[in-house]
Amino acid sequence: MSYQMKIEAVRNSFRAALDSLTADSQAIEEVRVSYLGRKGKIAKLFALIGSIDSSERPKFGQLINALKNDCQSSFDEKVALLTAETKDSNEDSLDFTLPGAVYRRGSLHPLQQTMDEIKDIFTSIGFSVAYGREIDDDYHNFQALNMPKHHPARDMQDTFFVDDNTVLRTHTSNVQIHLMEEQDPPLRYIVPGRVYRNEAISFKSYCLFHQVEGLYIDKHVSFSELKGTLEYFIKRMFDENVKIRFRPSYFPFTEPSAEVDIWNEERNQWMEILGCGMVDPAVFENVGYDPEKWQGFAFGMGVERIAMLKYKINDIRHFYQGDVRFLEQF
Ligand code: PHE
Repeated sequence: MSYQMKIEAVRNSFRAALDSLTADSQAIEEVRVSYLGRKGKIAKLFALIGSIDSSERPKFGQLINALKNDCQSSFDEKVALLTAETKDSNEDSLDFTLPGAVYRRGSLHPLQQTMDEIKDIFTSIGFSVAYGREIDDDYHNFQALNMPKHHPARDMQDTFFVDDNTVLRTHTSNVQIHLMEEQDPPLRYIVPGRVYRNEAISFKSYCLFHQVEGLYIDKHVSFSELKGTLEYFIKRMFDENVKIRFRPSYFPFTEPSAEVDIWNEERNQWMEILGCGMVDPAVFENVGYDPEKWQGFAFGMGVERIAMLKYKINDIRHFYQGDVRFLEQF
């Protein structure tokens, strides 16, 4: 083999070694030592000089020097490239100084939490939970509850009409009628749900809100059981020492009727949280129950009112704006 061919053979195998090189510092060092090192393949080419015709020696020397320089610079270039790549990819995937990704955790809406608490308390004393329709006919929302057309009590609840005979329910009391139509007594239900009223929107009223209805029907039910049940509920919902008052009131579907207020320390005033009473015999007649045989009590509480008192919220509209800064607090 001529010395030119030997030089080219080293060049080619060096190129191949360089091409397959990765960012592995040990492999890089091995290539450097075996080609460019003091006892490497290029150094060994210099040892051939003695076997070459003296006229050829200067040419031979130049070729090896050129090879050595070429190999050195392409080796340096390649190593620079490989270490730069390593640095980049490390920066992308493993920068431990970056702040961690913050994932926002969802939470139950304060109204849902309040309703869940109300449900827990009543189910723990034997009530079942029922749901009913939000769009109902005039009969179930009004007439069967002893509020015939043109009854003045209808003015207590500004109504959204879907058509002449269909309304967005103004209270959850419509479900009282459905439950009694569908089942024979005794009954023990609470009914959470949305209700709608066409009222001017302000800090204290909204066109939509939530109620939890209660209906308890059995033999020999008295007003004192209504009082005892509601007192028990309110003390568990707020606290043992909360001040409660039953205030005589009027609802067409209960007789006698009352509203329950609790004392609000912050505002220094009584706040109404629910309406209640003994189911009116006229309602029993409408659903085919014998009023001589059955008695019962009913109540309806405002969930927003209760949540506002419990969590000291001063504007009902907060519940409906979906502002995360508000919702995150619960
Ligand atoms: N439905 C009444 C209201 O919305 C509350 C109520 C329910 C009163 C049951 C008595 C009995 O104001």
